[in-house]
Amino acid sequence: MKMEEYNCDVLVIGSGGAGCKCGIVASKNGQNVIMVSKGLTFKSGCTMLAEGGYNAAFGYVDEADSLQLHILDTLKGGAFLNDLHLVHELVVQSPKRFIELESYGCLFDRQEDGRLNQRAFGGQSCRRTCFKGDQTGHEMMLGLKEEIIREGVTTHSEVMITKLLFDQSHSKIVGAMGFSLADSSIVVYHSKATVIASGGCGWLYPVTSNAVQKTGDGIVMAYDAGADMMDMEMVQFHPTGMVSPKSRRGVLITEAVRGEGGHLINSEGERFMINYDPREELATRDIVARSIYTEIQEGRGTPEGGVYLSVTHLPEEQVQTKLHTMVQQFKDVGVDIINEPMIVAPTAHHFMGGIRIDGNCESNVKNLFAAGEATSGVHGANRLGGNALADTQVFGNIAGEQSSKRAQESELECPDESEIKDEIERIKSLRKDGKYKPEDLKDEIKEIMWKYVAIVRDEDGLKQAQKELNDLEEKTNDMDVPDYDEYNASLVTALEVISMIKLAKLIVQSALLRKESRGAHYRIDYPEKNDEEYLKSFVLNKNGEVNTIKRGLFDD
Ligand code: FUM
Repeated sequence: MKMEEYNCDVLVIGSGGAGCKCGIVASKNGQNVIMVSKGLTFKSGCTMLAEGGYNAAFGYVDEADSLQLHILDTLKGGAFLNDLHLVHELVVQSPKRFIELESYGCLFDRQEDGRLNQRAFGGQSCRRTCFKGDQTGHEMMLGLKEEIIREGVTTHSEVMITKLLFDQSHSKIVGAMGFSLADSSIVVYHSKATVIASGGCGWLYPVTSNAVQKTGDGIVMAYDAGADMMDMEMVQFHPTGMVSPKSRRGVLITEAVRGEGGHLINSEGERFMINYDPREELATRDIVARSIYTEIQEGRGTPEGGVYLSVTHLPEEQVQTKLHTMVQQFKDVGVDIINEPMIVAPTAHHFMGGIRIDGNCESNVKNLFAAGEATSGVHGANRLGGNALADTQVFGNIAGEQSSKRAQESELECPDESEIKDEIERIKSLRKDGKYKPEDLKDEIKEIMWKYVAIVRDEDGLKQAQKELNDLEEKTNDMDVPDYDEYNASLVTALEVISMIKLAKLIVQSALLRKESRGAHYRIDYPEKNDEEYLKSFVLNKNGEVNTIKRGLFDD
């Protein structure tokens, strides 16, 4: 097998919003940065797909808005499972990071008087969400890309990182390795600090809004390297994904549709959200997703298996300008949303669980940093719409600053000898004839997760999921992976399947531990929130330990 080796100060794994911001900041601090991505650089993360907006408490529309209110909304939205310090950082730094995006060249919507415009989003007491129509993430990525290029950051596309490299003698991460999708050559990175910014794992489910690369590899790599995993049961289902045609199932329909005044309507013509929450369509996502799910389950869904989302009562000009992407997205499939309703159903969207980080974005494994959706703590049990884009910039920035600092204090070290050798052997050993196609196993994981570990869960279903995932894990020893080099999609899928099963098992383990309902985690057998016993985060690690961190407004 061919092997390429690279040295850098800071290695950033992932090229979405958090990865780019981290790379820019580290480069501005004089570090030699490599940003590596499983997909195409700048195009493969979820930031590119984010539509509705970025929360920053500027108070330009609702003057009553404040940092305190943004903090409180985020905590309430997260059912108080959030890490208070991380929430504070998110809210306090978010406005400054937004202005920096403008300095990179992003253009956001403004009001007549020139001040930034802000829209309403779910679970927020003020109009706080800054935006560019319904393509805010796209606009952000254009600016971030320009700045990455101006900074001269080295970018590597289509390299799948499979392992973090450890150095026992210094007890720290000293790089990462993987292989090039184009020709299967092994790629090894030696770095003084490493940052995981590889996003979440929406593709654990068959219906998701996520970019196709989002299989949670980065999170599992950190777990394998000894990093603590926190709040793993918390998977967010966005209330509104496309339902049909099948090829578009799960594609995001932005919350901005409801923020602009869209109505959710059942098959009986009733605007049903009032039956679930006084905030109606602008309740938090956990509540809206469960309400839609209930309407469908109780027979008030559409024949296609969704509910209606209508903007036909809104002025056409508002829809055309503020929801332009939605107009196009539906026109593409023959629906004119100016005159007809959209059909929507929940779609796996955001992982609130992941790598546990401290206020410097460092994990419990030395020299391993993380930012963005791969991490946990900021959003607690449920993320507010608009807080993810802010998260990418705030924590991408912190990770950039702190990884640079660490790199400046460090030397390049070599990983233990066995680290690279064993990983090459593992990758090689997958390339053989076998009974099971990795693509089929991937589908099986998704079906298990959808059936037992989605919007509504219970003990029996979770235990069944555990059993089926264990059986599936056995099958990964007998996968059929052809032995060729160029764009070996089966090899990529086989590696993804191995980490997806590990991740799914952690989600199930944590979901079994939480015998209550909180935020996105709804247990039909324990439908109430139980603060007395469960106002705490579960922390899991690869040694099988389960620890807890007490939460609440006055956490210790
Ligand atoms: O609905 C949306 O536009 C998604 C935004 C978000 O997840 O923050």
